Amino acid sequence: MIREDNGLFILEGKATSYLFAVIPTGQLEHLYYGRKISVCGAALTALRHKCVNLSGCSIAYQKETPDVGMEEICLEISGSGKGDFRQPFVELVMADGSTTTDFVYESHTLQEGKPGLATLPAAYDDTGSASTLILNLRDRTQALILELRYSIFPECDCITRSAVLKNESGQTVRIKRLMSLQLDLAGSGYCFTRFGGEWTREMNRFDSCVDQGRMVNSANTGTSSNRANPFVMLSHMDTTEDCGMCYAVNLVYSGNHYEAVEVNGHAKTRLLAGINPEAFEWQLAPGTSFETPEAVISCSDAGFAGMSRQMHVFVREHIVRGEWKWKERPVLLNSWEAAYFDFNESKLLKLAKAGRDVGIELFVMDDGWFGQRDNDTSSLGDWQVYEKKLPGGIAGLAEKVKNLGMQFGIWVEPEMVNVDSELYRQHPDWAVQVPGRDHAEGRNQMILDFTREEVRENIISQMRQVFSAGDISYVKWDMNRNFSDVFSAALPPEQQGEFSHRYILGLYQVMQTLMAEFPHILFEGCASGGNRFDLGILSYMPQIWASDNTDAISRTVIQNGYSYGYPQSVIGAHVSGCPNHQTLRTTPLETRFNVASFGVLGYECNLCEISKEEKQEISEQIKIYKKWRYILQFGTWQRLAGSRLTGSWNYGSAGTFSSMTSVDESLQLVKWLAVDGEQKQAVGIMVQEHVMPNASYAQFQTRGLADDKQYRFTNRSLKHSIHRFGDLINTVSPVHIKKDSLLHNTAAHFIKMDGEDEDVTVSGSLLNYAGIKLSQGFAGVGYEPGTRLYQDYDSRMYFMTEIE
Ligand code: DGJ
Repeated sequence: MIREDNGLFILEGKATSYLFAVIPTGQLEHLYYGRKISVCGAALTALRHKCVNLSGCSIAYQKETPDVGMEEICLEISGSGKGDFRQPFVELVMADGSTTTDFVYESHTLQEGKPGLATLPAAYDDTGSASTLILNLRDRTQALILELRYSIFPECDCITRSAVLKNESGQTVRIKRLMSLQLDLAGSGYCFTRFGGEWTREMNRFDSCVDQGRMVNSANTGTSSNRANPFVMLSHMDTTEDCGMCYAVNLVYSGNHYEAVEVNGHAKTRLLAGINPEAFEWQLAPGTSFETPEAVISCSDAGFAGMSRQMHVFVREHIVRGEWKWKERPVLLNSWEAAYFDFNESKLLKLAKAGRDVGIELFVMDDGWFGQRDNDTSSLGDWQVYEKKLPGGIAGLAEKVKNLGMQFGIWVEPEMVNVDSELYRQHPDWAVQVPGRDHAEGRNQMILDFTREEVRENIISQMRQVFSAGDISYVKWDMNRNFSDVFSAALPPEQQGEFSHRYILGLYQVMQTLMAEFPHILFEGCASGGNRFDLGILSYMPQIWASDNTDAISRTVIQNGYSYGYPQSVIGAHVSGCPNHQTLRTTPLETRFNVASFGVLGYECNLCEISKEEKQEISEQIKIYKKWRYILQFGTWQRLAGSRLTGSWNYGSAGTFSSMTSVDESLQLVKWLAVDGEQKQAVGIMVQEHVMPNASYAQFQTRGLADDKQYRFTNRSLKHSIHRFGDLINTVSPVHIKKDSLLHNTAAHFIKMDGEDEDVTVSGSLLNYAGIKLSQGFAGVGYEPGTRLYQDYDSRMYFMTEIE
């Protein structure tokens, strides 16, 4: 709830308070954000910044108040030219060339609920618990209004903020920056956590301590970017997974973004988030307004885990929308890594049939079905079926797949065009490029100018035809290049700085139109994997392909990174073939499944060419996933203690680790748990990177089960191939067996080694605080039934079920 008491604005969540007040000179002083406190207007004196004499080099705000200097105060928003030397929230150039701004309080309104934004996607509330505060600030000399909007979602302790600048003057004002959020915190030395990397290496966690100076996390690729996801955290240096303060910010935006932390000489920390001011400029004509994307902020003193829980609820409840919001996602089989561009209808149907036989529910035809697309050099923009490959068209294939008992899905990349396409030949000016200059390409393709209405209309109409060309249940919306040669033939020179933001506005309009027309289709966003994984896309599409890297070990790092700000139900994760196509690493099928099952599970491999045993294994996996699917997709996701990717300051600079040298450090790469809302059931996994010799001990300790309930704890029983023991087989065989000989292979066909069985019934408190000691791991001194064979890249899945 939000209230105002004698000039003190109080935003209260379930466990947090956010406080600010109007100071006598009219600015908004930020007073507190943290654990909930009991407070009323009378507390203002205690909370306000105290100053009688300004320090040596400070600027006094005005003659009448020589004790007020903007540099030392925590502010809700700041401008330029009045003595606050930190980076501003708003930066303008007036018609006369001046850049000083001074926005002061004029009025405010309080309302129930959460209004949307006029031009951008935004969080929404249909639980009836959100409330909103709108403040109007006015510049002291120019006819400019700055509207600040705050909404609180109390059940998940999240606040959204955005701003609108209105030009009521008679002259155009140039916006050089307008942020979405400013958070000024007292103190310095916070840990600033960013998540980035590159293609196939998304979401590595980087922690840096910020003392006096500035640190920036930003994207200028035109996308929210795999180099720097817009989700960031600020925490205390001693914050851990379970304890200590953690602030987190994300943006409901898919374009160039900027999150900067700055500490000034007075040990005040400022966090800014919004559109990247680099290469951005907006001409704000008289009578018009400009709206910023929404920023989401949350804080928890229950460590990273507490903050993640809040963000997950927020994303599921207030960002994802439409029919698929709480609907279990089907297990899909995608044709990409199975066939790439090399397919025709009969090949696809064989693959689909193999998928049907193991329990796949949705068959997806990826890239290569349109124009004359045999490789990535042609046809983007020409969204008519490639008849040589699909003589029966989309409808024909979709029907045959349906007849196999599966749903049918299709891949598109609507924002792109190849030079070798009919669309480009007809409309070269529709592609983003600077006239008179050679253009650069990425993956042999160019970007369509979505700032232009005629371009958007053409693509909407082509997509409309594709989506209604057959019985289509799923669409993968891909986008495979970063921006270059940024320019629109439809914008005047002084508005070229508006291009990147206008592109995103255009993209959202296209998505909005198509999603509204096809509400039953399950859309999955994708941008070479995670190059546009953000809350803007999730406002239209309920899930995003998280990375083009399907290697299970890489995926532990990537999915663990996403888990800080995003729930499992939005993360696309597939089991692929081995050696893996991105890393050439070979990992057990079991581990590929375990890791992918902590996301929206799919398969992306040639099921027609795998062994009978693998088929059998996959079919068992899919049965298990379907049984536990709701918890795996919608349960509370916990990063458990005893895993190397959990906690603070434990990442190497690239998110990898040197090999462990002592048993004390014998931790798993990840341990994850998903617990259902009623704490009746949970499913967990642990994944090992490299085996440590003579380290046979391991335990599995949960978090979030009900202390006073009894649970049966079991594992997924495994049978091991005798091949895993190599020539050690001779230590038990009555006859000598040569490794990899016919005899060895024949024996392997008939003999399987029983894996360990964990089966105990214990209290939730035991699981939560003591943990289960797992069966002894193989340590080179014999293998008895019940030994846990747990070597390089092995993993386990555990189940916990309440016993009444
Ligand atoms: C990039 C995607 O991330 C892949 O999964 C695949 O769809 C290719 N594009 C197809 O071109």
